[in-house]
Amino acid sequence: MSSIRVDRCLCTRQTFAKLLPAARAAGVTTSEELGRLTGAGTHCGMCRPYLCRGLKTGETYFTSLLAQGQLEAVKPDAND
Ligand code: FES
Repeated sequence: MSSIRVDRCLCTRQTFAKLLPAARAAGVTTSEELGRLTGAGTHCGMCRPYLCRGLKTGETYFTSLLAQGQLEAVKPDAND
């Protein structure tokens, strides 16, 4: 049985545990804003679904894979 743990943007080597509190402190609510602030999610983009979900839920690690198609499902509402 295999297991995964996704807890960081591999391209920028920043953990979600550090990124998400920084995002909250800066008032960041979208992965695009977080990318502009930190660079996370702006390279290969594989971490963006996780960043989106983490921004919405506060989760800092994930044990199942999220696909790009799930991105829209976890994007914060425009009015959030
Ligand atoms: S893993 Fe985050 S941009 Fe590549």
